[in-house]
Amino acid sequence: MTEPIIAIRDVHKWYSGVHALKGVDIDIRPGELVGLIGDNGAGKSTLIKILSGVTRPDQGQVLIDGQTVDLKSPKSAMRLGIETVYQYNSMVPTMSVARNLFIGREPLRFSLFGIGLMNQAKMRHDSIRAIADVDLHLRSPDALVGELSGGQRQGVAIARAMYFKSRVLILDEPTNHLSVKETTKVLGFVSGLKAQMITGIFISHNLHHVFSSCERIIAMARGKVVLDKPTDRTSMEEVQELM
Ligand SMILES: Nc1ncnc2c1ncn2[C@@H]1O[C@H](COP(=O)(O)OP(=O)(O)OP(=O)(O)O)[C@@H](O)[C@H]1O
Ligand SMILES: [Mg+2]
Repeated sequence: MTEPIIAIRDVHKWYSGVHALKGVDIDIRPGELVGLIGDNGAGKSTLIKILSGVTRPDQGQVLIDGQTVDLKSPKSAMRLGIETVYQYNSMVPTMSVARNLFIGREPLRFSLFGIGLMNQAKMRHDSIRAIADVDLHLRSPDALVGELSGGQRQGVAIARAMYFKSRVLILDEPTNHLSVKETTKVLGFVSGLKAQMITGIFISHNLHHVFSSCERIIAMARGKVVLDKPTDRTSMEEVQELM
């Protein structure tokens, strides 16, 4: 068996009185596409926030490639190749697609004492390619993100993760509040991760979406993992009964 790219070991998290994670153990292997499901308040987002450096566990460890890591900020998670796409992702609606793709990681034309001039031409050029790579068709990289549909925005967020060669892409409810057509598109992006050899964690309330796109199902309830099986060895009925 290959070494897990992510190993979560006995992770606990308390929010004042709430014991949100109660000893979670999960191994994820490189290239796997895992569906994470569970009722409201099960602890899914808390677990993802730990993996993306938004919050730290109170107990337990996270290992990346077998090494214990301290994910103390989203930047430190990104440096390890872990990118997260949220339902309302971190894009700036008043900025162009190209600017949003490079936000916080802008290529510079030159830099002097830490002050640089952004390389606009490279951002435009590379963003056209990055967007085409996820099969997203946009009018122009200069279009404002605020003018895009929810599905297109998720597409740009996924294109950004791909461009920066993320190794692990986490999607927390990326299809919430999307139309049927847009949802199909986002599910297409998710299924496409496999071909790109990107490890994916896909969180959704919709069992159909998770069962149709993921090869492994992890279900959480009340802060614990209650099921962890290959998709073809479980069923929506079994999952529903446990949750
Ligand atoms: N910042 C916080 N402060 C206090 N309690 C929190 C905080 N974040 C989460 N919780 C609590 O921790 C528990 C787990 O919440 P979490 O958001 O991880 O659940 P979830 O599985 O993502 O739910 P949902 O499906 O509704 O998104 C809940 O009881 C929640 O109320
Ligand atoms: Mg959540």
